[in-house]
Amino acid sequence: MSRQKIAAGNWKMNTTLDEGVELVSKLIAAEKDKSVLAILAVPFTHLLTLDKKIKSKGKLKLAAQNCHYKNSGAFTGEISPSMLANLNIPYVILGHSERRQYNHEDNALLKLKVRAALDAGLKVIFCCGEDLDVRKTSKHILHVKIQLEESLFSLTAKEIKNVIIAYEPIWAIGTGETASPAQAQEMHNSIRRMISRQYNKRVGEAMTILYGGSIKGSNAKDIFAQPDVDGGLIGGASLDADEFVKIINSFQEEE
Ligand code: PGA
Repeated sequence: MSRQKIAAGNWKMNTTLDEGVELVSKLIAAEKDKSVLAILAVPFTHLLTLDKKIKSKGKLKLAAQNCHYKNSGAFTGEISPSMLANLNIPYVILGHSERRQYNHEDNALLKLKVRAALDAGLKVIFCCGEDLDVRKTSKHILHVKIQLEESLFSLTAKEIKNVIIAYEPIWAIGTGETASPAQAQEMHNSIRRMISRQYNKRVGEAMTILYGGSIKGSNAKDIFAQPDVDGGLIGGASLDADEFVKIINSFQEEE
């Protein structure tokens, strides 16, 4: 089955709006593989302006980096799924390890967020992955299985089609250390089999699974060449237009 190839940039809390506009202008102008969907997860403050800028640039889409689990209420400083949907923002990242760590988001809370985001009509990029201690004890696959079970597996087969999974080993995020292509493939294949078992083979085969953690122009090709890796969630390297374009252009040609 051929799945959509995706290069998703996670800008995190970086760029002023002016810098963001400049970065997007460069990305629009660059020569890019047209079969790849590029998603930009930008700060909330940039969404409206950048949305106008990329309008009708088919293979460039926007994502928010988080949302609340309620659509409205007394939650000072929060942004709701319906607010994003009302701006026609198609994607939201949920469960990034930085939010799990710094904002104490756990699997139960993420289950509520995923439900609310899908109900509002957003597509979810759901992050999972183990830290170094878990990796050292070889319990990484079990760790990710529990994350998926507790946050995603109450969804129906129809609902989970609007979820993209991003496997991001925490020990590889922003550290310059990447999982080897074989380590990424092992986990991606395990995730695909978990989805197939929970739903059915068709759902498992259709699931887009991204790898994240220190992807750069120089290592993207080997990771993207793995059969169960459908693309990447890219942090640091997505802030450099040339580097991100190199990553977008790192997928193998369709046979
Ligand atoms: P990195 O970040 O590419 O800078 O390691 C990835 C992420 O956190 O999504």
